[in-house]
Amino acid sequence: MKKVIALVLALSLALVLVACGTSASKESPKASAEPSATVAEGGKIGIAMPTKSLERWNRDGSFLKNQFEAKGYTVDLVYSDNDATKQVSDIENLIAGKVNLLVIVAVDGESLSTVLQTAADSKIPVISYDRLIMNTDAISYYVSFDNYTVGKLQGEYVVETLGLDLADTSKSYNIEFTAGDPADNNAGFFFNGAFDVLSPYIDAGILKVPSGQTKFEEVATAQWKTEKALDRMQNILASFYAGGTQLDVALCSNDSTALGVTQAIGSDYKGTNSVLITGQDGDEANLANLVDGKQSMTVYKAVANEAVVTVNLADAILKGETPNGDLIKSSGWTFDCTYDTDTYDNNNGKVPSYLLVPIIVTKDNLQKELVDSGYYTMGTDGYPKAVG
Ligand code: BGC
Repeated sequence: MKKVIALVLALSLALVLVACGTSASKESPKASAEPSATVAEGGKIGIAMPTKSLERWNRDGSFLKNQFEAKGYTVDLVYSDNDATKQVSDIENLIAGKVNLLVIVAVDGESLSTVLQTAADSKIPVISYDRLIMNTDAISYYVSFDNYTVGKLQGEYVVETLGLDLADTSKSYNIEFTAGDPADNNAGFFFNGAFDVLSPYIDAGILKVPSGQTKFEEVATAQWKTEKALDRMQNILASFYAGGTQLDVALCSNDSTALGVTQAIGSDYKGTNSVLITGQDGDEANLANLVDGKQSMTVYKAVANEAVVTVNLADAILKGETPNGDLIKSSGWTFDCTYDTDTYDNNNGKVPSYLLVPIIVTKDNLQKELVDSGYYTMGTDGYPKAVG
């Protein structure tokens, strides 16, 4: 485990160096929708979240709302039940309600072009929050975590924990992949980040995939649904592991899918080994599984800080500024963030992005990273509870 912590520290250091280094402020962004008038105080913010049924969006929604309100804005916060059509009409209503700026997490990143043209026509700036909105020039900025690194951390955790070594082909392990929603631009980044780390070991025969399912489309989970991940893993276990084949790793892109996979393994897996299961988000149910040894790790993204970046960015836009990498320093954030004008292209050009840094959380560093840091409190039942 020391090795894993050392890896985490080394990675964090590398990421801090990147944050302080070359990728910051390469060029000034072109905000595509300037606000119709500068809004010093008391403007109205429309926030469109995908669904209440996935834990993190409830936290994002309340952090954003509280922080905007603390700065004197009024907030209209809507959730769209993971229904892309409903989200379009929810955003139309926010526009009709004369919001000054929109913060949007797309249900389907490809389906908002028309409604966002209406926003652009009304000079309403749009921040694409966490998920990149595709095929539109109506978004001004993207705020997220380094999504590729999320997957990379998962893959590196597997390599480190199993002690994989390309020079040693004497041992092999079985792995299955579960990825996210194809309608979410992040899902490919997560999967590729993990797969790029692990594929050399697959090619060398050190990692084997008994189901043969290694393509994103084969392992994707519509809407990140726990039940879909559960069903698919039950099918895989029945088809490829019934004869006593050992499953060593279930690489899951996030916690909602890890939850389903963990349930399927709990009920249908015949082996006696404990399966290494990855995740992302730090959902309470998954942290409880970490404490109980049923999930091995999660990649934690401090969404409270993602909200801080978004609120400072929105505030600057509404004051008529054109924020760039300088916002990182001038805001005085105590967490790492990179300004990146290269990585995220939404098919309409590169979108200037503020990217925060994800970290690995395991049973061993959970207290330090999540509880001592104030993001969670430790419940009397021994399980962490999210703050906010
Ligand atoms: C987010 C993840 C989340 C997933 C499902 C992604 O866009 O980045 O944090 O687990 O959506 O809600």
